Amino acid sequence: MAKGVFIVGTDTDVGKTIITAGLIYVLRSNGYNTSYFKGALSGALEKENMLIPQDTKIVSEVSNLKEDYNNITPYVYKTAVSPHLAAKIENKPIKLNVIKEKYSYLKEKYDYIVAEGSGGIICPLIDDKRGLYTLENLIKDLKMSVIIVARAGLGTINHTVLTVEYIKKIGINIKGIIINNYKEEILYDDNIQMIEKLTKVPIIGKFKYIENLENNLVENIRKNAEEVFDIKTIINCMESL
Ligand SMILES: Nc1ncnc2c1ncn2[C@@H]1O[C@H](COP(=O)(O)OP(=O)(O)OP(=O)(O)O)[C@@H](O)[C@H]1O
Ligand SMILES: [Mg+2]
Repeated sequence: MAKGVFIVGTDTDVGKTIITAGLIYVLRSNGYNTSYFKGALSGALEKENMLIPQDTKIVSEVSNLKEDYNNITPYVYKTAVSPHLAAKIENKPIKLNVIKEKYSYLKEKYDYIVAEGSGGIICPLIDDKRGLYTLENLIKDLKMSVIIVARAGLGTINHTVLTVEYIKKIGINIKGIIINNYKEEILYDDNIQMIEKLTKVPIIGKFKYIENLENNLVENIRKNAEEVFDIKTIINCMESL
């Protein structure tokens, strides 16, 4: 039976993809047969009439995952807005049965799945005559627990505690928090202490800020992930799906 965890950000752009790529790299390079999953991605790059899901590309390259992008990211939109709006603008509504079919396929083929959310916990995915469906509904439907990725700097205490409290309130299990863009400075260390005190959720990784990350993206993420992530801790965050 496959196991998995869902990566939720305190916001868009907090580094979910970079962290997910690092986690899957560490798992795969240690022999754990792991896949990525991102149900819907917006803001894809267009190249020679093809839409490239950038998150999926980064994760696949960093972790040597050879799965067809269409299986791990079934909905890809060019417009860089929330998926519910991109789906309306591009007239391509998300069908939940398609997401669930792909997810089931991955559960059969892989032992571990690390899924990445779009935006933050209240990111809308569907808003049409079928009703409103957000990321929290998807996480519940896929029966997953979450790891929260949070910023390290100013403002993160408020964002992170609100995200934790909301997720607890809706009954989703939180396995840990990963702090991204960490630097060894009093502000960052104090933020981490405050977040632990206020939420009682363990901080399971402090992923360093990497200057010029993009210059050598794959190697930078791999090296940092190897230093930061403890395999046993990651595996302990995974629950049967
Ligand atoms: N540790 C880091 N050091 C330096 N730059 C980083 C780090 N983490 C993320 N970034 C940069 O921040 C930006 C956002 O990161 P990322 O794409 O992982 O965010 P995200 O939460 O996945 O966003 P989205 O909501 O669009 O999926 C990227 O340009 C990425 O390269
Ligand atoms: Mg991302």
